Amino acid sequence: MRISRKMEHVHYALELGQSRQQGLSDIKLVHNCLPETSMEHMALTTEIGDLIMSSPILINAMTGGAQETESINRELAIMAREKGMAMAVGSQMSALKNSEVASSYQVVRRENPKGIVFANLGSEATVDQAVRAIEMIEANALQIHLNVMQELIMPEGDRSFVGMLKRIEAIVRHVQVPVIVKEVGFGILKENAKQLQEVGVRILDVGGSGGTNFAAIENARRPAAMEWLNDWGTPTSISLLESLSVFPRGAVIASGGITNALEAAKALVLGASAVGMAGAFLRVLREQGAQSMHRFADELHQGLILIMTALGAPTIGALGQCPVVIMGETADWCRTRGID
Ligand code: FNR
Repeated sequence: MRISRKMEHVHYALELGQSRQQGLSDIKLVHNCLPETSMEHMALTTEIGDLIMSSPILINAMTGGAQETESINRELAIMAREKGMAMAVGSQMSALKNSEVASSYQVVRRENPKGIVFANLGSEATVDQAVRAIEMIEANALQIHLNVMQELIMPEGDRSFVGMLKRIEAIVRHVQVPVIVKEVGFGILKENAKQLQEVGVRILDVGGSGGTNFAAIENARRPAAMEWLNDWGTPTSISLLESLSVFPRGAVIASGGITNALEAAKALVLGASAVGMAGAFLRVLREQGAQSMHRFADELHQGLILIMTALGAPTIGALGQCPVVIMGETADWCRTRGID
């Protein structure tokens, strides 16, 4: 059941695509006609908590748990290794329940023995499961995903969300690697960011709406669906600014609907320290193949270097200090919610 669901997610993520209504068109970079920079001096290295990453683009959690997903993870891991990108695996719960499928996750470590790899579980996980997921792939960090609305739309999904924070707190206290709490495309807002901070979470991935849409995906998987929920969630631009009103620089990853270097750069200028991309990599891999996906990663890196040169920002940290204008719905939202 779980295994076919994973391939259905891949199928519908591609069929439905990304709306790209992630709010980043509200973010206007301020052109610098005197940047005093040279392309050869741009550095893409970034830090998230204690993790040092050679690229600010990370391959966000998608899959594992079946043979076909193993080949996807293998190709993503090879790209992660070749392009120096951190990579997360999809939820490992299926492998904790059935060790036969662990290989579809472990391939990521086999292909990339020295890379930065993130384990992934939902907030239903226990401390013991978290430790086993980390060990399974020798992970450098653990992502805990929050996906309440996805679960509620799935007929077979969870119906009780009691104790999420307590379980997250227990995991944060006991595991030896950094814990990243992420949404899967509905966003994290300041009230929840504060709750997570209070239980010791130090890194957030905002996972805003406007990209892969798990309400639409779950609705597409069955007749008599709840399509009226397809617009649920908060766009990435807003989720990012809300999260950054609570978490410091160096602690927030932007994701949700990011598909090119300009969108990534806008998120970094707003104050994200890295940018997660899932659906965009999956699409190029499945529709055009691994070579095209490697070219896509190169284009992302070259595009970022170009924008950094143009803005006069030689580092990711400097990018976060560039002036920016926030307009439209994102500005209205921030004004209403008292976010600077
Ligand atoms: C996902 N995503 C995801 N996230 C997670 O934490 N655990 C998981 O198992 C999965 N599974 C998954 C499958 C597929 C096919 C896709 C496309 C995505 C969510 C992903 O990590 C990310 O948060 C969202 O997709 C939003 O980012 P994009 O796709 O808009 O860049």
